[in-house]
Amino acid sequence: MSMLLTIDDLKQRARQRVPKMFFDYADSGALTESTYRANEEDFSKIKLRQRVLVDMTNRSLASTMIGEPVSMPVALAPTGSTGMQHADGEMLAAQAAEEFGVPFTLSTMSICSIEDVASVTKKPFWFQLYVMTDKDFVLNLIDRAKAAKCSALVLTLDLQILAQRHKDVRNGLTAPPKMTIPNIIDMAIRPGWCLGMFGTKRRTFRNIVGHAKDVKDLSSLSAWTNEQFDPKLSWKDVEWIKERWGGKLILKGILDKEDAVMAAKSGADAIIVSNHGGRQLDGAPSSISVLEEIADGVGDKIEIHMDGGIRSGQDVLRALCLGAKGVYIGRPFLYGLGAGGKAGVTTALEIIRKELDTTLALCGKRDIREAGKDMLYRPDRPLPAEKRKAATAKAGK
Ligand code: GLV
Repeated sequence: MSMLLTIDDLKQRARQRVPKMFFDYADSGALTESTYRANEEDFSKIKLRQRVLVDMTNRSLASTMIGEPVSMPVALAPTGSTGMQHADGEMLAAQAAEEFGVPFTLSTMSICSIEDVASVTKKPFWFQLYVMTDKDFVLNLIDRAKAAKCSALVLTLDLQILAQRHKDVRNGLTAPPKMTIPNIIDMAIRPGWCLGMFGTKRRTFRNIVGHAKDVKDLSSLSAWTNEQFDPKLSWKDVEWIKERWGGKLILKGILDKEDAVMAAKSGADAIIVSNHGGRQLDGAPSSISVLEEIADGVGDKIEIHMDGGIRSGQDVLRALCLGAKGVYIGRPFLYGLGAGGKAGVTTALEIIRKELDTTLALCGKRDIREAGKDMLYRPDRPLPAEKRKAATAKAGK
């Protein structure tokens, strides 16, 4: 992994190693993909303020997310079909995150089950919940997450119906892939991936198959979603889910200030400012472009997290400066996983840590918890005089 220096390097390696249908599943957005692209592009518009001759020794990236200590405020996002990027992908990514000291979030639509991940980890992980029309199944999932000692439930709000990702339709996405001639050829040129898949029994959606009524086999995520996800999901559901769960609750998929106000009133512990990685409402603004407005609006009432478009440590810092207490990476860790399994996920985290550390220092700070708007170069939006004075005095001390 030594010459893999950027998240993009991992992406290119993953493209070689992962069958096209699964690489494309991760690397796609809804419809025209305009929001998917905006998530990344809008980060580079945010300029950081370079400071010099400031003591840069003894730096710390340690922080907390929903009160849990993290070695840096970067969690692994819940991502569907992760065990198709690499055999046993969720188990490997969870182990890499645990060793690194950052949270891992298991998706409902994972290949490895809650129990699989619990069997290879020592510390609690987070579980992401989709709400299905079959409420017994949902209650059972919540209870399984409790039994596995998950320390937070991440409730996704922005996928009541599934937006089309054209690449998945064109590729005929299923897990495991159907044995068509193009798929056989595609897999045959990726022997490492195939060996891994032959060596594991985890090849379908194990949180669901054998647990949900009448589901003996489930190969298509989109067919399942279209039939089973609850299009009537409402704030009332958030109440009963919160009550049944009884632990830390994170609401994922808030992109609008009015929804953020409702989320803050719901008693949840945190929200994730998110457009589902540009995979749902095509045409929605990027997550980073609405973060500040939401954080300024409700940030004293609920902890703010964000995801979407983070590809570097600089991006992490930008999001923290604009009001996020923590961020999530999805595709960056998936590229690492596809490129090199558990070691690849660790490499993705290391790349981001190194970039974050250097960037923090060159902005004149030593403690990530000090990240704030005073670290951004925004001549058109000067900080109020007293805040600027305080920030300058602090940097010069
Ligand atoms: C599932 O969460 C997806 O975005 O495909």
